[in-house]
Amino acid sequence: MTERIIRLAQTASTNSYAINLLSENRPEENTVIITDHQTRGRGTDTNSWESERGKNLTFSLILYPVFKADLQFIFNKAISLGIYDFLKSEIPNQKVSIKWPNDIYIGDKKACGILIQNSVLGNSLDYVVVGIGLNVNQTLFISDAPNPVSMKTTTGKEYNLDETLHKLLKSIFIRYAQVKPETRGIIENEYQKSLYRLKEWHNYLVKGTLVNAQITGTNEYGQLLLETGTEKILVCDLKEVKFNI
Ligand code: BTN
Repeated sequence: MTERIIRLAQTASTNSYAINLLSENRPEENTVIITDHQTRGRGTDTNSWESERGKNLTFSLILYPVFKADLQFIFNKAISLGIYDFLKSEIPNQKVSIKWPNDIYIGDKKACGILIQNSVLGNSLDYVVVGIGLNVNQTLFISDAPNPVSMKTTTGKEYNLDETLHKLLKSIFIRYAQVKPETRGIIENEYQKSLYRLKEWHNYLVKGTLVNAQITGTNEYGQLLLETGTEKILVCDLKEVKFNI
């Protein structure tokens, strides 16, 4: 797929820039807004996103999926898998995984965060902005983010950002093309297999209660399934479960 790239020396947030553009017109599908520096990079919830100027990839991709809005969980999984595939091929000797719902981890540390913002019209998606922050060449992190890591801190190599962007987009487009009824089973299956801590016993805080449980997968609504020692399955929404206890 070909993409149109809008490069900005600096902007508050590429997601905000994309949403602003979308409020004025309809940029071409696959438009990528990328910047060297975000002054107010946004993470999930009210978090901010730390990224040192010129060291990493911080960009947003505009898509107009034709499928119904209820496929958005599969869509989110496809994006995570695209990034996962890319990192796995770049850093083959390390354990890469997807920490539910869509952080990409190297070992026990976060290398990439994704902020997806949708606009829904009826039961269709009007647009989707996929914001991606991938830590590439940054080696010192100063924010209070608990466990950042970059490709460079993992391999010791310095990466060319343009090349990295193009390889990453290629992986994402391959998975995006699988978000259709005939191939969504592949995404579902491979997403489950790539989950951080899959089938490992750990402590989690679920709705305020400490439980020892293993992740067994996610359901079609994107909820996390945790099995406790008594074989009870806990179905968790995003804010109901905390890792790292
Ligand atoms: C997270 O908290 O894990 C999500 C982080 C998403 C960061 C990216 S960087 C590019 C895009 N623009 C933003 O303001 N945020 C996303």
